[in-house]
Amino acid sequence: MQIGIDFGTSYSAAAACIDGKLHGVRFGDHAQFRTAVFFPAAVPNPDDFVLTDALEAEVESHIRSARAAQRRALDNWQQRLSEAQALPAERRVQAMALISEPAERTESDLRAAALRAVRHSWMERSVRDSRSASVKVNDAIFGDDAIDAYISDGFGHLVESPKSMLGYNLLPGAKKIILHIATHVLEHIRLSATRQLGVPVRAAILGRPVEFKSAMGPEGTTQALSMLTEAAQAAGFEQVSFLEEPAAAAMHYHTQRATPERSLIVDVGGGTTDIAYAEVGGPAASPRIFGSWGLPKGGTDIDIEMSLNAFMPLFGRGEPGIPVHHFREAASVQSPPLQREFRSHNYRNTPAPFRHRLMALQRLGATSQLNREAERMKIHLGAERLGRVDLDFIEDGLTADLDRAHHDAAYGGFLDRLRAVLDRARLAIGETPDSIFLTGGSSRSPAIQSTISAMFPAVPLVIGDASLGVVSGLAAAAAMA
Ligand SMILES: Nc1ncnc2c1ncn2[C@@H]1O[C@H](COP(=O)(O)OP(=O)(O)OP(=O)(O)O)[C@@H](O)[C@H]1O
Ligand SMILES: [Mg+2]
Repeated sequence: MQIGIDFGTSYSAAAACIDGKLHGVRFGDHAQFRTAVFFPAAVPNPDDFVLTDALEAEVESHIRSARAAQRRALDNWQQRLSEAQALPAERRVQAMALISEPAERTESDLRAAALRAVRHSWMERSVRDSRSASVKVNDAIFGDDAIDAYISDGFGHLVESPKSMLGYNLLPGAKKIILHIATHVLEHIRLSATRQLGVPVRAAILGRPVEFKSAMGPEGTTQALSMLTEAAQAAGFEQVSFLEEPAAAAMHYHTQRATPERSLIVDVGGGTTDIAYAEVGGPAASPRIFGSWGLPKGGTDIDIEMSLNAFMPLFGRGEPGIPVHHFREAASVQSPPLQREFRSHNYRNTPAPFRHRLMALQRLGATSQLNREAERMKIHLGAERLGRVDLDFIEDGLTADLDRAHHDAAYGGFLDRLRAVLDRARLAIGETPDSIFLTGGSSRSPAIQSTISAMFPAVPLVIGDASLGVVSGLAAAAAMA
């Protein structure tokens, strides 16, 4: 049995076509899962935690500073409220909308939070001291659960979006880790498919971007394909081939059209944006692909910009004395080497309030949590004018208020690159397409849809299944092979 696998930067999915019918492989209750793996570490037993006098003093000090932060947040709220009330009526409504009352936490909430923090740093210290925190490979956790486990627990190794590292010049150790992670993901898919389809699954067509993210040019794509092949073989696939992701999306659209049309297929994903021009529909067995174009940028790059623009100023971005690259390292959660770099900086002499905020961001799990908020706000601000994020995990009472300007700044660079690659495609095809078929999670963004429409004003946009367009086409192709 041959299946189609969409090993995505953000989400992975798999499906098979059996007797012309699409069978999506389920992952828990879902048709796809976050491409993230968490390997828990064998850590000291939390039950060994005993509240000594020194630790009790730490708890008390946490409670005192949380109480003070709560008081400050309350004063600040009251002051902003009275300032807003003094404004003329037309500006008052908008100003009031931006102010929300800080949540008041009871003494027992404060004590519980302080105990959690103290126990967490005790665990961190114990792990550092024991050096025995070996990784438990067999207990790997996949998907959003992996990120949750890392954020709440912190002990172990999380790799998010391993696909975005495949095209980079990796040191041998890092290369082994990424290969290992990709193998785990593909094995998870193969075993899930085998269980659900009731037959051994040993052959697959994998989607691939036109151009992988890379700092080595075309060599990056060659390396990524060879690493993926090796990972798939290690995961138990005896037969592996690749199909460009936009060609797979074209295949999916092809199966839905009774009459032929020439369509520009645009897949805006998490890591890359992939375009193909194809004749789809009608009696032919598969679409005719005239050309393809790739942009190695996608939704995760927009998340990084969102984080840099909306959150990092709270950590001192733009202040003298803190190198700007520290903030990009912190925001690049897909890159284990950059994350390690960020954690290695010493902020003891950085001025307040940035010192303790940066140190809190260096705690395991914190950058992943911040990135989650950046992604959530990117999506939220696509539809809403304002947004607010609680950053209690960094500092009690700390919040970030966001508006459309943050959204536009985060998208700006990406939209410029998108226009440039669409321009290249438009020039190369030299005719007006009959339609534009959109897929990929980022294609849900109104800013991206309107940018594409504006470049092809007379061409109808066909909104495909954003999540499953590529995997459906891969499954159809797998059934033909
Ligand atoms: N409503 C939305 N607005 C903007 N972005 C969105 C929305 N919904 C999902 N996304 C983004 O879509 C991206 C995931 O898309 P998709 O699942 O197509 O990526 P992928 O296939 O994993 O990546 P790639 O194909 O690049 O390897 C994420 O960056 C996510 O934040
Ligand atoms: Mg994709």
